[in-house]
Amino acid sequence: MLTKLQQDCATPLPVLRNVADSMSADIRAGLAVDGGSDLKMILSYVDRLPTGNEKGLFYALDLGGTNFRVLRVQLGGKDERVIATESEQVSIPQELMSATSEELFDFIASVLANFAQKGGNFHLPPGRKGEIGFTFSFPVKQTSIDSGILIKWTKGFSVSGTAGKDVVACLNEAMDRKGIDMRVSALVNDTVATLAGARYWDDDVMVAVILGTGTNACYVERMDAIPKLQGDFPSSGRTIVNLEWGAYRKGLPLTVFDRDMDAASINPGEQIFEKTISGMYLGEIARRALLYMAEEGSLFGTSVPEKLSMPFVLGTPDLSAMQQDTTDDLQTVGSVLYDVAGVESTLNSRKIVLEVCDTIVKRAGRLAGAGIVGILQKIEEDTQGVIFGKRTVVAMDGGLYERYSQYRRYLKESVAELLGPETSQNIVIEHSKDGSGIGAALLAATNSKYDRNY
Ligand code: BG6
Ligand code: GLC
Repeated sequence: MLTKLQQDCATPLPVLRNVADSMSADIRAGLAVDGGSDLKMILSYVDRLPTGNEKGLFYALDLGGTNFRVLRVQLGGKDERVIATESEQVSIPQELMSATSEELFDFIASVLANFAQKGGNFHLPPGRKGEIGFTFSFPVKQTSIDSGILIKWTKGFSVSGTAGKDVVACLNEAMDRKGIDMRVSALVNDTVATLAGARYWDDDVMVAVILGTGTNACYVERMDAIPKLQGDFPSSGRTIVNLEWGAYRKGLPLTVFDRDMDAASINPGEQIFEKTISGMYLGEIARRALLYMAEEGSLFGTSVPEKLSMPFVLGTPDLSAMQQDTTDDLQTVGSVLYDVAGVESTLNSRKIVLEVCDTIVKRAGRLAGAGIVGILQKIEEDTQGVIFGKRTVVAMDGGLYERYSQYRRYLKESVAELLGPETSQNIVIEHSKDGSGIGAALLAATNSKYDRNY
């Protein structure tokens, strides 16, 4: 059974190559015309990247997959850069994920109101409204830098009444209800905020990838390489494009466990890449495989542990905790299995559990790496030597990337395998810790309605 799982999840070089090539082709098709591919290739309206000259006090709101953060960032311009950040983080209450739009945005506004009321060490000049960079980590059809329509929810959210609406208007209405007098200057995806934040420190950043609850990527594209972009723009102009790569689906090695999980999800048939490689799902895929092995192969003895039948009882952090176990008798594996899933295990069954985790995580990390190469390849094809012939940085963030060392290793191995030793030397895959908070504040500054130099 284990061997069959390993075969079904295998990602030898030809599989990775096919994913990278198909990702490049999908990028092109999505840039040609809206609806041209599984990738939405959303234009971010971010065509001015931070320069380092941004000055002043700005707010950032960050609605990710698991947490909501609010930040106050004091930018000091060229010499001082980021003077200080103050922030607060709350986890998004489970019930809000299926609440009404008003309830969700009221929650966001009340955390902001609380935070703003507490003051802090930095203040806006009199008469100046607080300006917000709003990182909203769901697919949004941007209509300008400060407005956008929610296309659909992902990552298990099913909030009613938001799809088809301008999320900035939803936030403004909630801020009105709470008596908050601030305005959103920039609405951005978390990948875009991460790219802007990382680029502030390093001009070589061309791509940003989030690997957390969900997954996505964006990159810097030449405007004249985007056929669906109509209108006047400088021929040297560049913009950030958000792939929404969670929706990618071609050439993925999927198992019966993936298919069953997808069928039971609230968005069957959607976000297949996300369901194969992101944090929300890896634990659940492993649980389904283990349950099958317990039922059909007596992995944990003659009876099947009841809790193991509960969807999502095993989280990706549990897989990571088990894979960090270095004890001879795999004590951590044993206690995670017992505490989380009520499973009594022997050393032999623990070893098999570890193999299952590794199989799922290896596939995920390697496919994520192939996705990254797909993006780099596309840029390289258009501008030979610009990407592969010099230092190019891919900024990474998200809980999965940050906290799962095996995942990171598999991802980097796959990039190196695909690019070969010479080229991969030039590609720097770097964790951009909290880049998205600063990035959103910077984009609020870049798009400020005021004279920025105060
Ligand atoms: C955070 C970023 O580090 O990672 C957020 O600041 C992003 O912008 C988040 O949405 C994604 O990770 P997770 O694990 O919270 O989904
Ligand atoms: C989901 C969202 C996407 C976001 C990603 C990472 O895929 O649709 O917008 O960037 O998760 O948080």
